[in-house]
Amino acid sequence: MKAYRASILYFASSAKGAQAIFESDGLLVVGPDARSREVVQAVGAHAALAPRFAGLPTEHWPGRIIAPGFLDMHVHYPQTDVIGSPAEGLLPWLENYTFPHEKRFSSLEYGAQAASFFIAELLRNGVTTALSFATSHPASVNALFAEAQKHGLRLMTGKCLMDQHSPDGVRDATEQSLLDTEALIQRWHGVDRLGYAITPRFVPSCSAAQLRGAGELAARYPDVWIQSHVAENREEIAWVSQLYPDARSYLSVYEQFGLLRPRSVYAHCLHIDDEDRALMRARGAAAAVSPTSNLFLGSGFFDYASADRAGFLHGLASDVGGGTSFSPFHTMLAAYYVGREGQTKTGVSLSPQNLWWRHTAGAARALGLEGVVGNLQPGCEADFVVLNPQATPLLARRAAQAASLDELLFAMIVLGDDRLIEKTVISQAAGVRLLK
Ligand code: GUN
Ligand code: ZN
Repeated sequence: MKAYRASILYFASSAKGAQAIFESDGLLVVGPDARSREVVQAVGAHAALAPRFAGLPTEHWPGRIIAPGFLDMHVHYPQTDVIGSPAEGLLPWLENYTFPHEKRFSSLEYGAQAASFFIAELLRNGVTTALSFATSHPASVNALFAEAQKHGLRLMTGKCLMDQHSPDGVRDATEQSLLDTEALIQRWHGVDRLGYAITPRFVPSCSAAQLRGAGELAARYPDVWIQSHVAENREEIAWVSQLYPDARSYLSVYEQFGLLRPRSVYAHCLHIDDEDRALMRARGAAAAVSPTSNLFLGSGFFDYASADRAGFLHGLASDVGGGTSFSPFHTMLAAYYVGREGQTKTGVSLSPQNLWWRHTAGAARALGLEGVVGNLQPGCEADFVVLNPQATPLLARRAAQAASLDELLFAMIVLGDDRLIEKTVISQAAGVRLLK
């Protein structure tokens, strides 16, 4: 067991949702659970806990804030090198930049060096759990899982399914793609902190037979994740309605193939209606909201107010490389900008506690990992960041004048980036390791 003394930010347990707790002089005690995972044993005010844990080795970080590691609910590790590629919209962006680049991942060596850079970048930015796309090449999945395993990181990924409307070099073959998916599930799902995600890219790139096969695998492996895209862009939606003229909506195509269920995560969900929202809620499916991507590609604005009213799961994601930043602070700020669109009647926009929760404990709930990651309640795996609010002159000046927790959180959301993350600490089976 080991303890850390600093300010501590975490969240009340589930029923209270986005309610943040801030201990200005706190103590976080971590140690192994029955399965030898490094988990939080106790958290609270230093004065209250110190007598109980007096003999423990304690690291003291004055002026720093310990907070849960961030979760990125939707990111494409192979697209790290296409960040910032301008296009008229999603479909030309895929065709001109994304697909040509993803072809390189047929090589395990290429995937391995990209995975190594990607995971270092997640950690530099304080992201300790990610649900990432790979490419259609099984080697790209092996490369990312192997790198995540090396760091003891909690990570989910999967081989992209795309057997139509995709160029040579990334297009896969229906039957083989499903065999490959199952073999990868058996090799990786549940190994250490790794999880498999069945990954139909989006409706236009998957034949009906491939979607059907994906749904059958999802039924056979109910605790694997499913990840895809839905209702991101108007041209994409028109294309889906040509492919499925009888479908009520784009989302309903996934429903038809058994691909909406708990642990299914749909990026974007921008142009959906209340019937779709009710379906998301009824199936326990989650939206991965990616505001920097939606702004960069001109895709549209997620409707946070309607999502809250409908009560379906949703959390924040970078969507790199459509998204423009690995930093959760940039994503939270973009969500705030977008939130102004729909919430003028109910308030300014999303509150800072709500933004932060949707990138940590709320994202964990949406991923089916509540109580496992994204919070620092006892029992949670000990993944956390150490924030330095003095990291830049402007942030130091603004944070020093914060008169409330909301003001402090807001200052970090608006002015923060990777410089604010002083350390990222990953729970390890054999003990905590500092990675930054
Ligand atoms: N829809 C299908 N593939 C993709 C992708 O790679 N990025 C985004 N943003 N949308 C997609
Ligand atoms: Zn995406």
